[in-house]
Amino acid sequence: MAVACLFAAQNASAGETTQHVVNKAPNGLAQTPPMGWNSWNKFACNVDEKTVRAAADAMATSGMKDAGYEYVVIDDCWQGPRDANGFITANPVKFSSGIKAIADYVHSKGLKFGIYSDAGRETCDGFSGSQGHEYQDAMTYARWGVDYLKYDWCETGSRNGEEAYAVMADALRASGRPIVFSMCEWGVSKPWLWARNTGNLWRTTGDIRDSFDKWDPKNQWVHPLLEILDQTEPLWPFAGPGHWNDPDMLEVGNGGMTPAEYRSHFSLWAMMAAPLMAGNDISNMDESTRSILTNKDVIAVDQDRLGVQGHRVAKDGDKEIWVKPLAGGGRAVLLFNRGATPASITVDNDHLGYAPSMRAKVRDLWAHKEVGNWKGSYSATVEPHGIVMLRLNP
Ligand code: GLA
Repeated sequence: MAVACLFAAQNASAGETTQHVVNKAPNGLAQTPPMGWNSWNKFACNVDEKTVRAAADAMATSGMKDAGYEYVVIDDCWQGPRDANGFITANPVKFSSGIKAIADYVHSKGLKFGIYSDAGRETCDGFSGSQGHEYQDAMTYARWGVDYLKYDWCETGSRNGEEAYAVMADALRASGRPIVFSMCEWGVSKPWLWARNTGNLWRTTGDIRDSFDKWDPKNQWVHPLLEILDQTEPLWPFAGPGHWNDPDMLEVGNGGMTPAEYRSHFSLWAMMAAPLMAGNDISNMDESTRSILTNKDVIAVDQDRLGVQGHRVAKDGDKEIWVKPLAGGGRAVLLFNRGATPASITVDNDHLGYAPSMRAKVRDLWAHKEVGNWKGSYSATVEPHGIVMLRLNP
């Protein structure tokens, strides 16, 4: 409180006229990266209440809930018109039960419920945005039982990102309900520099594309996995409990990548302490997809309570070594082969910041077995576009 007053006084003496609170406390949510499902990557605007209920059912019964997935999030296109008093309504055809009933259904499964809006006048698909309605919308979400808001950046004109996101962050706080705030401004105004007490996660790039390394020549807005990876990796110092870099939702299971590439995708996101938001049809997934999304060894790396984002510590052409420090002095290690032919990769103590005397057990997180004691280095042949992921436990 004393600190807040000091800041207010400084602002006043500098002649600032805005009410913007520069030093608000974090909202205390998302102490580990959020996990859940979001409708966008698979369904885009073809989302309706049946899809959302089916996703909640699947999350509860597929092993995903047991593995830590929690939030069922409807992305864009759920909205109907605003009513005469400016309150947002749901599309009466696609969401005829109303959003509260769907939130109740999700909650009845022991899960949490999320929704989407936009800081501009319109969302990216042309529905009503929240600009000018922030407090009214936050109140509506709280009444409906919303636990998570993804807040986009289309049709924002000349709005200032820091200011626009602060308004909704304040509105969510004023609603009285704990609501995880997912900022989706694509890294435009470098939110990692200012948003750690505004949002719980912020997108670092434009949208992900279901491809390992191929751009869509007709749409440069959607980025292949490697591009998103390289843009997000250097931002590792800015992530931590309650405020995460978000390299966008998962494409695992959507069909554009091989199983090896999807294992890399999931492992790299875990190394980056990224939110793990499944983006496939989880009510209709094959065993390969399910087993990737529910790999508890890999999820434990993502969810490690130390909350340090891992990063690349060595690169030799297509061969990379990534390390993520874990609570208790352990390390997650990723040997990553970006190339199209198998590659032999060796990690050693220097990569890990370990003394030569360090003793640790080594576990292979995709073979799900202990592979012996750490002897100062470890080598593996890594398949094309693939990974070997290890955990060292001292
Ligand atoms: C933007 C976001 C996407 C998705 C769509 C919805 O492109 O970055 O994640 O929410 O809008 O229209």
